Amino acid sequence: MNDSFTTAWGAFELARFPENPREQLRAWDAADEYLLRYLKEEPDSGGPVALDGAVVVLGDRWGAVSTALAGTADSLTAITDSYLASRAIAANLARNGLDPEAVDVRTTQQEPPSRIDVLLVRVPKSLALLEDQLYRLAPALHEGTVVVGTGMVTEIHTSTLQLFERILGPTRTSLAVRKARLIHTAPRPALDRPTNPWPLRYRLPDGIGVLSGRQVANQAGVFCADRLDIGTRFFLQHLPDLGDARRVVDLGCGNGIVGTAAALTAPHAELLFVDESFQAVASAEETFRTALGPDARAEFLVGDALADVPDASVDVVLLNPPFHSHQATTDAIAWRMFTGARRVLRPGGELRVVGNRHLAYHVKLRRLFGNCRTVAGSPKFTVLSATRR
Ligand SMILES: C[S@@+](CC[C@H](N)C(=O)[O-])C[C@H]1O[C@@H](n2cnc3c(N)ncnc32)[C@H](O)[C@@H]1O
Repeated sequence: MNDSFTTAWGAFELARFPENPREQLRAWDAADEYLLRYLKEEPDSGGPVALDGAVVVLGDRWGAVSTALAGTADSLTAITDSYLASRAIAANLARNGLDPEAVDVRTTQQEPPSRIDVLLVRVPKSLALLEDQLYRLAPALHEGTVVVGTGMVTEIHTSTLQLFERILGPTRTSLAVRKARLIHTAPRPALDRPTNPWPLRYRLPDGIGVLSGRQVANQAGVFCADRLDIGTRFFLQHLPDLGDARRVVDLGCGNGIVGTAAALTAPHAELLFVDESFQAVASAEETFRTALGPDARAEFLVGDALADVPDASVDVVLLNPPFHSHQATTDAIAWRMFTGARRVLRPGGELRVVGNRHLAYHVKLRRLFGNCRTVAGSPKFTVLSATRR
């Protein structure tokens, strides 16, 4: 939905990325509105928050906050782990005729600014990602830094506030307004804070074939960062025989264990790891290199599903689709992944998918590929195979 977002700084046309005419979802919510209203009105001191220093927006979902502040703040940096969010910020600036340079978009993997005067945090779904990012940003804060977090009440828990308190300084919350809440923190640069526990590296259990005992790297926020997911485990037991496959894609690679298993069993295959999370792709690269050596060849791509992969260029796509995401309805993402797979597979190529049984992916796959075989099933999961004809 391309819709008008009215703020104290003007009205902005905003859309999610990629735009989906069938999905009537707004690119902002009450948490974005509450934050912007607070910045303009600042009820505590009766005046607007000064935006003339270095302003950092962490975790802007679709660029609503960055777009609204683009023409106002002197120096505005948006930090995100999401490729889709970074594209949405750029597209929304362009849509509103704003200078693309007005927002310095950095990934969570890049160095943050060395001094921050205003830190605006859209609380992410992942507490781990919030923890890691607050640790990374804390050294740039000073006593006078204004820190305001925002989120829907369902996204802000006691554990969320404890992170702000433990890593940055004394923290309180505002009243809820239209089911959104603000978080206010008074930074204490001299705080004796524990060390950042991220990234987390652990060894996989025995009994999972080529991956047994191997080390997995997990940057904060990646899917199932502290243990092997049971769906992934089931998938690892039912990967296809890669025979003479030349090009194999680990789509939505997370920490990269599926693609790493494929590379270990089929050394001749060229692996491509894709995820929309910068943290995930960095994790996958480390997991792969730890298992196969620093010089082993593979490609690591941050992108939206298979949008950047050429037609008919791939032999096998391995996929454990996301089943919840702040980015869009999961159905839309799974469908984008399936249609992408159909396009990039060579005739005879295979898409192999694991999914929760209740998601009934076989219906979609059959519609799209004209075929779908159940490779394995458990009470909770099914592994499906569809062939490009
Ligand atoms: C269920 S996890 C699977 C992770 C890993 N492959 C595994 O099996 O343990 C789904 C992954 O899809 C990624 N993802 C979500 N939306 C995406 C998109 N539009 N394009 C690429 N990857 C996406 C998520 O970041 C997440 O890492």
